[in-house]
Amino acid sequence: MAIEIQAYAKINLHLDVTALREDGYHDLITVMQSLSLCDKVTVELFEAVGESEILIECDDKRAPLDERNIAHKAARAFLEALDRKSGVKIKIQKNIPMSAGLAGGSADGAATLVALNKLFGEPFSLNKLCELGASLGADVPFCIVCGCAYSEERGDKPRALPSLPEESLFVIACGGEGVSTPMAYSLLDEKYDSFLNYSPRNTDKLIDCIKKNNCAEICEHLFNIFEEPVSQHREVISIVRNELLRCGAKAAMMSGSGPSVFAIFDSLDNAESAVAAIGKMGYFATVAHPVPRRIF
Ligand code: C5P
Repeated sequence: MAIEIQAYAKINLHLDVTALREDGYHDLITVMQSLSLCDKVTVELFEAVGESEILIECDDKRAPLDERNIAHKAARAFLEALDRKSGVKIKIQKNIPMSAGLAGGSADGAATLVALNKLFGEPFSLNKLCELGASLGADVPFCIVCGCAYSEERGDKPRALPSLPEESLFVIACGGEGVSTPMAYSLLDEKYDSFLNYSPRNTDKLIDCIKKNNCAEICEHLFNIFEEPVSQHREVISIVRNELLRCGAKAAMMSGSGPSVFAIFDSLDNAESAVAAIGKMGYFATVAHPVPRRIF
């Protein structure tokens, strides 16, 4: 039996970094939302002789097929936690741009955990699955639960917020070379002197708008600490952002550590024109909608 799980892209409506931790990670404050742009992850078990065997197929040749792929790590971690040996075949249909600040790799890892838990008859609780996810990457627990969430510290313990209305209109656009997340964090360390005297932005107004289901007002409270320093290294980010605004976006901001940019629209015509305009520039763009929390 094979199970297909949608691995949804995430955007950060708010992303602030507040401290450099002793473990090399950073403390952050973030509000994340899943969007309908997704990879499709199909997982199937097969009998393996002796040791576990994990096979990955992906339609995008740039994706690694070995331990460097979070889906591979996820399958290994799941089998070890369950103390079982098995063959696991994972097929990934890649639609989320890679190294783009959209948590595409984390989403594939999360989808693999969700699929394996179903295939093995739900041996793990949601909490345990998220704990396993956190050991693979900070965004993985959020990519398991999806919807909208607030998170602090390493960003790996999302607390649910009401998901934005499903009819809200977003465009996700992405051009140029991918951004390495560690490089983006080191740009911040330089700019903010390792956050020794940094005061984080308040998220109250953004969270109020989310609780009021008000996607229009959210536009005034978007924030991403990475946007300015990463944009200085990737001219394409400002080009894409300006084009989205020129096409009528109510707001546009870089997601995660970039270089993807998301924009909020109130007209489908404008959103589709923006997708066409960015496509003509040779970059990726698509309309997307908020995705609510996964039902387990
Ligand atoms: O957790 P993930 O593997 O996605 O993180 C990739 C890199 O991003 C980490 O190796 C670290 O350099 C940086 N990071 C961080 N603080 C976080 C999350 C990620 O410094 N809270």
